Amino acid sequence: MTSLLARRLLVVTGKGGAGKTTIASAIGLLAASRGLRTIIVEVGHQDRLSFLYSRAAANPGRETRLQADLWSLSIDPDQALLEWLQMLGGRIPGRLLATSSTFQYFAAAAPGAKELVSMVKVWELTERKRRRGPTGAYDLVVLDAPATGHALGMLESPMTFGAIPRVGPVAAQTERVRALLTTPEHSGYLAVAQPSETAVSEALEVQHGLHERLGRELDAVVVNGLLPRRFYERELTLVEQLPGPIARSAAKAARAVYDRSRLQHNQLARLRRRPFAVLTAPFQFRAELDLDALGRLADHLARKL
Ligand SMILES: Nc1ncnc2c1ncn2[C@@H]1O[C@H](COP(=O)(O)OP(=O)(O)OP(=O)(O)O)[C@@H](O)[C@H]1O
Ligand SMILES: [Mg+2]
Repeated sequence: MTSLLARRLLVVTGKGGAGKTTIASAIGLLAASRGLRTIIVEVGHQDRLSFLYSRAAANPGRETRLQADLWSLSIDPDQALLEWLQMLGGRIPGRLLATSSTFQYFAAAAPGAKELVSMVKVWELTERKRRRGPTGAYDLVVLDAPATGHALGMLESPMTFGAIPRVGPVAAQTERVRALLTTPEHSGYLAVAQPSETAVSEALEVQHGLHERLGRELDAVVVNGLLPRRFYERELTLVEQLPGPIARSAAKAARAVYDRSRLQHNQLARLRRRPFAVLTAPFQFRAELDLDALGRLADHLARKL
């Protein structure tokens, strides 16, 4: 199997709020630290990563350099569709197209068009190296994808978008995106899940969806926000036997920590029975995740990536 970081595209998805942006960013940092020219691409308007580098919204829709070997880009699906139609329609001014009923009609009548066009943009980033030589080329594109259902729809768009003509430039672009997404040497899929029942179930939905809709397998799950295992049952029993009121309070606290961590590790065990790799990312005890914490998560993930 080609190592995940050696592929052209790594797609990160999972349940809403599971830590997709955090893990995609940590993986981007890791890849860049290994000298891979890496771009982290998010769909929508989060811009959290450039915010951490104090480059908040400096270049919406543009590739922004964050540090050595690391860039970020936020794709706005509406804007991507507009540019795409412009390109196909020759010299129609963007302003005219944006307000024209044709555009509105097309966007409404062709569900999946925005998703497909966003994926064409992602494909272009993966392909640049091969087309334009070393300048501005990327070794790895990390896609901070939307949550599970939306992400699967986006990934499936080259297969399902009904308005694709059989021949011509649109058909060719669509086929290239399809080839990128379905070839294991070129693309990898990673789901992020908190160590909870619902988040783990959603990661398994990603696995199922990829298999059914793209004929692909999930490569890895990152269990994010894992608490350290501080006690074993035997130690807990010893603490609970200590005499006195303080010892009783301490025993209660220890039991709560133990139970929580045990539940989390049960979810981890549920994933470990599956064919994909299972990685962990420890919970970061701080008010806000800063670059330091991302670096620590990157170091942790480095052991298995
Ligand atoms: N390992 C961690 N330790 C502590 N806090 C974390 C960790 N991972 C993520 N968080 C926090 O959890 C919150 C959600 O994380 P993040 O934004 O990465 O999730 P997401 O899956 O991208 O969310 P969305 O679905 O909204 O895009 C953030 O406040 C983030 O700082
Ligand atoms: Mg996010």
